[in-house]
Amino acid sequence: MAENMNRRDFLGMTLGGIAAVGVGASLVAMKSSWDPLPSVVSAGFTTVDLSGMQEGEYRQVEYRGNPVYIIKKTAAMKKCEDRDVVVGNGDYSVGIQICTHLGCIPSYNVNSEEFHCACHGGKFDVCGKNTFGPPPIPMKIPPFKIDGDKLVLGEEGPEYLKLVGKA
Ligand code: FES
Repeated sequence: MAENMNRRDFLGMTLGGIAAVGVGASLVAMKSSWDPLPSVVSAGFTTVDLSGMQEGEYRQVEYRGNPVYIIKKTAAMKKCEDRDVVVGNGDYSVGIQICTHLGCIPSYNVNSEEFHCACHGGKFDVCGKNTFGPPPIPMKIPPFKIDGDKLVLGEEGPEYLKLVGKA
């Protein structure tokens, strides 16, 4: 009798263990089907608080793996109504800091207020417009939304739609 009980206990525990492994594997499979694709996860938003920026300050942030520059313009800097982002009473230049020639990353020179691309000598002004060399077009403006003092990269707000002519 004791031997039968032991055998029954052993079989019960074995079947219970197999069932538990099956349930665990099913839950893992279900979770992976619920989770968003990796590309969606990495395609997130980047929120930048602009409230502490000083006039003339240059900042670089990462947005979806790309460098994005943000410059708070001084009163003396060149204005570009077709590209400037107005947040509160500040004017900002915002763009994806990738050269539109062959994709190098231009560096910003605070003194000359220009971007220089070391690859083939291309230049962009403080607004991100191509001014010299092979770059054919201005640096791209990333989609953005203004939320108080914050810039939310990745969302198409009305200010972005107006700048790119979609509003
Ligand atoms: S990649 Fe910038 S000038 Fe060619």
